[in-house]
Amino acid sequence: MTEIAIVDDQADAGRIAADLIVAALGRRTDPTLGLATGSTPLPVWAALAERSLDLSAVRGFALDEYVGMPDGHPESYRVVVDRDIVGPLGLDPARVRVPGDDGGPLAEAGERYEAAIAAAGGIDLQILGIGRTGHIGFNEPGSSLASRTRLKALTPATRADNARFFDSIDDVPTHCLTQGIGTILDAGVLVLLAFGESKAPAVAAAVEGPLTSSCPASAIQLHRRAVVIVDEAAASQL
Ligand code: GLP
Repeated sequence: MTEIAIVDDQADAGRIAADLIVAALGRRTDPTLGLATGSTPLPVWAALAERSLDLSAVRGFALDEYVGMPDGHPESYRVVVDRDIVGPLGLDPARVRVPGDDGGPLAEAGERYEAAIAAAGGIDLQILGIGRTGHIGFNEPGSSLASRTRLKALTPATRADNARFFDSIDDVPTHCLTQGIGTILDAGVLVLLAFGESKAPAVAAAVEGPLTSSCPASAIQLHRRAVVIVDEAAASQL
């Protein structure tokens, strides 16, 4: 079931998501949080950090990571996760994983990541942004709704969107590792956030469109508890 919350501002969105996270993490002693990069979840991390909770026992699994970047590149998601999430929330960096960060062979990185998530007892709550193409994680249109963590090529649209973080579009990696849609659907609760008019078509397709791999985010319609938190602009085509 999909619940939709239309909020006045991003701070409200952050507070609602933080409430959901606190509730989900309270359900077991060693809970797991599904982490998302991008600008959209930043108010969530800010709202959670304000609560000064002891989150050192929480395990984190990021949705995705670029492939082919040197270790420690400032735009690698490992670095972004440590900077934007692990540090402000006081997570234990050793308990936080990003796909491919174990240094093993790339070809089996997806299977190893899936095994790590399973060993942690699954993900209790997954935070999601949404790309203009309707992608979640880096599951671009055409991704199987049953997909698991794997190596993918990025679309030109997503590379163009993410070029703002790099000196030029040529510096944006061409490939990534991403949790699959099936992986994402296994999380206990999904919380998808979107702000701004540019996300309105993707939000409408995800929430009200047909269930289709042309809009990977429409897969949230299959989930028993998906909460979509949007501002007025992102909700404008609903
Ligand atoms: C990237 C990430 C996605 C994210 C999307 C939107 O492509 N892999 O997980 O949802 O960007 O980013 P933003 O929230 O900055 O618009």
